[in-house]
Amino acid sequence: MKETIIVTGGAGFIGSHVVRLLVNKYPHTRIINLDKLTYAGNLENLKDIEDRPNYSFIKADICDYERVKDIISSNGVTGIIHLAAESHVDRSILDPFTFAKTNVLGTLTLLQAAREYWEPQGWEGKRFYHISTDEVYGALELTRPEGVPGSGESGGGPYGDDFFTEETRYQPHSPYSAAKASSDHFVRAYHDTYGMPTLVTNCSNNYGPFQFPEKLIPLFINNIRHRKPLPVYGKGENVRDWLYVEDHARAIDLIFHEGKVGTTYNIGGFNEWKNIDLIKVLIKVTDRLLGRPEGEDEDLITYVTDRKGHDLRYAIDSTKLKEELGWEPSLQFEEGIEKTVRWYLDHQDWLDNVTSGDYLKYYENMYKGR
Ligand code: NAD
Ligand code: DAU
Repeated sequence: MKETIIVTGGAGFIGSHVVRLLVNKYPHTRIINLDKLTYAGNLENLKDIEDRPNYSFIKADICDYERVKDIISSNGVTGIIHLAAESHVDRSILDPFTFAKTNVLGTLTLLQAAREYWEPQGWEGKRFYHISTDEVYGALELTRPEGVPGSGESGGGPYGDDFFTEETRYQPHSPYSAAKASSDHFVRAYHDTYGMPTLVTNCSNNYGPFQFPEKLIPLFINNIRHRKPLPVYGKGENVRDWLYVEDHARAIDLIFHEGKVGTTYNIGGFNEWKNIDLIKVLIKVTDRLLGRPEGEDEDLITYVTDRKGHDLRYAIDSTKLKEELGWEPSLQFEEGIEKTVRWYLDHQDWLDNVTSGDYLKYYENMYKGR
């Protein structure tokens, strides 16, 4: 094998797509999936590649310094793609300490463990790539409330003139985004202080197969199927910028191999949707694929108390990534959503499996606490 890369959080939603892509594309690179297997990590997500000679899994906690240091040094690791995190905003509102521990201390632990092993050898050929979120930039205004969903382009979005760029000031609002922001700062500090070759990317909302059904899209598809209420926070007017997960994984591969170290790239699809408009599309597509009259399940929409500190609008400007590295999203939203709904409807076993046991307890408590 030519080199060894650790992907942290490889058993989660985005991480599993990244691991699959790397294992398939680079048969001579060893890919180690390092994951604690929290409620969000699931090795079923990687069944199709688990026997590949260049893939291995290590169950470990990124907060465990000695263990992480040993894994990096005993495997001669040259690159780290860091996705492990607590990722759900609602949970962070109920349990901020867990988010600070995993997202901040876990990232710092990885950085320091990598530094201890890499610095004496020289930084040449090493890379620490930290996957972050657009939520660190805070929230944008909704200056064109009657915009046309999905129609954004560089120069002005459908719901407002401004976008998050790589220069936008950090202004996180939730404990989740505050913890992610802090971890981003630590990564840059390791570059600026020790010269570690780091990369940070800030991506918009992902959707696609294997997403844990506490997040809007898989939760709602599952609820529509079972004719359960669809809990829309507030008035459903918040705007999110959606990107198909495989397009994010492609961007991660490209940036890891060709990105300029010490810099940041924003990743997004210029694809803004108001929640309520997106939910109506989801209902139509799910109804159609289930053989029900399209839109029949709109009566499941239930407006509930808003998320505390709910960010109004996210919109990413990914021009830098397009101009420097030539990346663009490959899928139209309509195509991505259809593929996604079909995948969840075809994988009811996966949904049933991940929504049993521990998850149910968390979920029930979450709603009690709201
Ligand atoms: P996820 O919750 O689906 O998966 C997280 C993974 O991390 C799980 O496999 C979990 O077991 C693992 N993990 C958690 N704590 C760990 C620990 N202490 N040690 C080792 N492993 C641990 O998350 P996701 O949605 O795939 O997000 C992955 C990354 O991408 C996160 O860093 C998130 O902030 C970022 N991100 C997510 C999105 C999105 O829309 N989902 C968008 C932008 C950025
Ligand atoms: O922007 C990137 C971020 O996207 C990632 O960093 C996070 O890890 C990821 O979870 C996601 O955060 P959001 O909070 O935007 O995603 P979520 O799916 O939780 O919610 C999407 C929108 O839908 C948001 O405005 C809240 C709303 N919502 C969500 C749920 C779960 C509802 O109205 N009802 C719901 O039940």
